[in-house]
Amino acid sequence: MQLAALLRTKTINADHVHHQGELRRVLGPIDLTLLGIGAIIGAGIFVLTGVAAATQAGPSIILSYAVAGIACTFSALAYAELAAAVGGCGSAYGYSYAGLGELVAWIIGWDLILEYGVATAAVAIGWSSYVNNALSAMGLALPELLTKTPVQGGWINLPAALIVLILAFLLSLGVRESVRVNTIMVVVKLLAITLFIGVALSHIEPANWTPFMPFGWEGVMGGAAVIFFAYIGFDAVSTAAEEARNPQRDLPIGILLSLGICTLIYIIVAGLLTLVVAYPTLNVGSPVADVMLRLGYPWAAGLVATGAIAGLTTVMLVLYYGLTRVFLAMSRDGLLPPVFARVHSKTRTPIRVIMVSGVLMAAIAGFTPISDVAELVNIGTLAAFFLVCIGVVMMRRSHPDLPRPFLSPGAPIVPLLGALSCLFLMVNLSAITWLRFGIWLALGLVIYFAYSRYHSSLATVSE
Ligand code: ALA
Repeated sequence: MQLAALLRTKTINADHVHHQGELRRVLGPIDLTLLGIGAIIGAGIFVLTGVAAATQAGPSIILSYAVAGIACTFSALAYAELAAAVGGCGSAYGYSYAGLGELVAWIIGWDLILEYGVATAAVAIGWSSYVNNALSAMGLALPELLTKTPVQGGWINLPAALIVLILAFLLSLGVRESVRVNTIMVVVKLLAITLFIGVALSHIEPANWTPFMPFGWEGVMGGAAVIFFAYIGFDAVSTAAEEARNPQRDLPIGILLSLGICTLIYIIVAGLLTLVVAYPTLNVGSPVADVMLRLGYPWAAGLVATGAIAGLTTVMLVLYYGLTRVFLAMSRDGLLPPVFARVHSKTRTPIRVIMVSGVLMAAIAGFTPISDVAELVNIGTLAAFFLVCIGVVMMRRSHPDLPRPFLSPGAPIVPLLGALSCLFLMVNLSAITWLRFGIWLALGLVIYFAYSRYHSSLATVSE
């Protein structure tokens, strides 16, 4: 086999034109920023912060949020540069195809499918427990057989499977419709967070911050590796490149602004949570709502829970959206079957990809304990961020004259720091996660060598 085939690169063409129909360019900078906030704020802040504060970092969880936020900012700058310069709905997959060659592109595309697919199915399970709790509180609890997977002694986690299918339907309707629903839900979750901040501000007990770093710097860093999950999602904005009206200007805005807003919100919420109650008591499933309850505001707890349900819904919606766009890009290039490359002539959405991936994710969410492997999302995302940071440095050398509407500042130092911080967070993840990730990549390589490299649209060109 020729090495050249593995390293073949695609020509950069930010304004793709395709035979099988184009996506609809309707999104502006505000839509893109709201898409980013939709994907970012979810299970991380509403669920993980409590566990991480109680068991990893204590009040210094606020520093964990700052550390993970800085690492993500490095990567977000790299994403902003490549999204504006290279474009394409395949995001990191497309940038790697242009800069690092087909094999790396395949690996990263395969990895993005894992990231977005596992995240969507795992968040669907979290969504299901929030909804079940709400239904129980109203006296409408579902029978256990319909809320538990077969391994847990039930038949199916019906709400988890259903929400994925509902989102599949919404995404097929059109990007405008999906973005409208996203906007409404983002407003709901931001209102819930504002309510929490408003209530918590009047119950601050500075003594709760002593000791501030009960687990030392090690705890801060361990906490950062866990709550990194909370930041995942700004990368999905870049998959909207072919649906943005002015991608060169607006993708960097959407990526960086959504990350900036969420970082600020996270630091405030994490700070307040640990200032209002003692950190060891935060190890509960829904810490933000729980704190409202403990402060004596049951109505606020209900509203915060509603915000959390809205938040989890938008996370699934946007990550699922990202999955379909990466899948579409890979099918157009022939690396996945071209039947998936078709865009519906009326809705201008890749309906086949949406349906096939939706049914698969609904089955996974309904019948398997996928949330047990949710850490795979962190490792998959970090691998993609790592490659995008490296991609910026490589492409500055390989394509020095490429027009770059947005320049990542401080290159190559800043992107290299980004790559290093991703590696650092990756080594903080567990061995079992690495093993599972390795198995997924090995499976991907088998498919690449058995199918994709022969069917690649570049195959006829270079072989
Ligand atoms: N950042 C997303 C969340 O926290 C994935 O749910």
